[in-house]
Amino acid sequence: MNASLFSSPTAAVLLFTGLVLTEAGDWHDVVVATEGAPVLLACSQRPPKDTMEVHWQWKPHGGDTVSLVLSANERQEFLGEALKTDVRLADSVSWKSGNFSLFFRPRSVDGGHYMCLIKQGQKKLKEEVTVLVILTVSLGPRLPVSEQSTLRLQAEASSRDAVSEMSWLSPHGLPLRCETLPSGAVIAKLPLVTVADRGNYTCRIRPRGNCSRPAFFFLYPVTVDVSRVVQFNLSFNTQLSKACLAHTPVVLSCAPVRGDYVLLYWQHPDSRQKIEKIFTYDRWRQRFRNLTKSRLHLKSSASLGDFSFELTPQPEEGGVYICEVFLNDSVFSQGTRISVLHVSVSSRPSALTLTCRYSERSQVKTVTWTHENRSRRLDWSSLEPGSLKIKVETPPGPETAGNYTCTLELNNGKKLEAVHVISLPRDELPSSSFPSPSSLPFLGFLLPVITVAAGVLLWKLRAHNARRGIEQSLSYHTGEVENIYENPEDLRQTQSSVYMDLKPTSDNDVYKELDRYEHCPC
Ligand SMILES: *[C@@H]1O[C@H](CO)[C@@H](O)[C@H](O)[C@H]1NC(C)=O
Ligand SMILES: *[C@@H]1O[C@H](CO)[C@@H](O)[C@H](O)[C@H]1NC(C)=O
Ligand SMILES: *[C@@H]1O[C@H](CO)[C@@H](O)[C@H](O)[C@H]1NC(C)=O
Ligand SMILES: *[C@@H]1O[C@H](CO)[C@@H](O)[C@H](O)[C@H]1NC(C)=O
Ligand SMILES: *[C@@H]1O[C@H](CO)[C@@H](O)[C@H](O)[C@H]1NC(C)=O
Ligand SMILES: *[C@@H]1O[C@H](CO)[C@@H](O)[C@H](O)[C@H]1NC(C)=O
Ligand SMILES: *[C@@H]1O[C@H](CO)[C@@H](O)[C@H](O)[C@H]1NC(C)=O
Ligand SMILES: *[C@@H]1O[C@H](CO)[C@@H](O)[C@H](O)[C@H]1NC(C)=O
Repeated sequence: MNASLFSSPTAAVLLFTGLVLTEAGDWHDVVVATEGAPVLLACSQRPPKDTMEVHWQWKPHGGDTVSLVLSANERQEFLGEALKTDVRLADSVSWKSGNFSLFFRPRSVDGGHYMCLIKQGQKKLKEEVTVLVILTVSLGPRLPVSEQSTLRLQAEASSRDAVSEMSWLSPHGLPLRCETLPSGAVIAKLPLVTVADRGNYTCRIRPRGNCSRPAFFFLYPVTVDVSRVVQFNLSFNTQLSKACLAHTPVVLSCAPVRGDYVLLYWQHPDSRQKIEKIFTYDRWRQRFRNLTKSRLHLKSSASLGDFSFELTPQPEEGGVYICEVFLNDSVFSQGTRISVLHVSVSSRPSALTLTCRYSERSQVKTVTWTHENRSRRLDWSSLEPGSLKIKVETPPGPETAGNYTCTLELNNGKKLEAVHVISLPRDELPSSSFPSPSSLPFLGFLLPVITVAAGVLLWKLRAHNARRGIEQSLSYHTGEVENIYENPEDLRQTQSSVYMDLKPTSDNDVYKELDRYEHCPC
């Protein structure tokens, strides 16, 4: 027997340090284990010889110090400085069997390279490296999972070098959609858990390089408590206010968090009651439900949890869009109030009527019609809330042809224009051959194009027309007409210089207010 064995275990350490263990796959075997569970690292020498020594040494992942775990000869076992829980040679009759496998219960920090070195005198009989990978799994929320909560299955391996693939399988053995977190952990989520989702979930790990097993499987039972429904932690972002032209895309933003799934609700325009769910998307299960609108699309980044929508609205599709992003047990809600502006044309033998429609009147400050010749008086009428009409006699003359612009201004100052062009008839074309409403070009942009001063000027020029429009509308009015300005008090407080769609009323205060603005020194 070598007397120096137990007095100087560093001799073996030096040998081991000489090994180059950097290349992936530079090992004889890989073992994957979980914290606290018994592990067996194989090593054998048959037939065993009396004069043999066995050394088990450990080099942690990424470290370069090698320490002794255990040394043994036929007569005794010696524990080194690398302490492991319950460590011993697995086989109680190892000096008969030649089975020198190492047994212990790893902690999370015990991953690394383990070398079994068997020597006889100065002769090396065996030198084998086994990589021990410690798997750490966390499940959330706490079991049993409440219905409708988001199940999280997260697995992290102590070494990525020795692992070629890590994934989660459903209780039916089907692979779940997984993502690798920056930490290297692999996560799978199942939003809106139901009782159908209970069962044994499997974490599968395929080792890289030499390994006696192609894959390791770890089972995690998930139970669902049907008597409890999750309580989501709700937070609300400030509602956004937008205007857009009909048939023109507008973005519906969601909370800027990377979520698990998204719901979109639509509150119909100018209505407090009518709300419907119009879109759901679960990026983990890759499940869509587009409930009504085909003109609504998720932006492409949605598969990564970065949700937002693009809506190309019809004229009647304004309203409030509420996006709810679910992340674990939290919900982030973001509403967008959208006024859709749309100009339509109807023709009668003697005149064209240009109708400017808009929705979500509560966020609209003003809507006006202007002609490119700003000196021209336009006759406005507003027979119903959210609609402003002007008539243009046909055939148009040099004075009446040109650009007609409907400008909408929101309470937040954003402005939007819809331009309608009426061209002079070429040669002697009869009025019936005017372009049809659908083929007429529109142009709009979200820009504060008219300065306040210009607006005041415009308003002054048009104030009398506005009055006439209102007066005209009064003669058709039946009484249920709503308005932006509920009372003259609101009107007084508004700094706006241009307004219309006034509530037809016998109360002359509104018109007095108009006059008052006309005299302001702007
Ligand atoms: C891989 O395993 C085989 C058979 O056990 C062995 O001969 C070979 O040396 C091992 N390769 C490495 C890099 O350890
Ligand atoms: C070594 O012994 C352990 C403990 O008895 C046993 O589980 C393992 O299968 C044995 N290995 C070999 C290669 O015989
Ligand atoms: C989950 O696995 C355990 C142990 O393998 C088994 O007893 C149990 O029946 C399984 N549960 C389900 C729902 O398959
Ligand atoms: C709810 O969410 C907010 C913001 O995300 C957080 O500050 C708060 O701690 C959460 N509350 C609970 C009970 O989870
Ligand atoms: C449903 O939404 C998806 C994602 O935006 C889109 O690709 C698909 O065309 C939509 N389906 C219908 C019927 O609108
Ligand atoms: C969501 O859950 C996962 C897994 O439990 C966790 O890693 C992540 O930090 C959680 N995210 C938030 C924002 O709480
Ligand atoms: C603009 O309209 C005014 C009033 O209708 C008219 O007198 C003037 O000639 C027009 N200007 C142009 C350039 O058409
Ligand atoms: C009229 O509108 C067209 C496009 O709609 C634009 O190109 C042109 O510049 C406008 N003309 C005037 C005078 O505003």
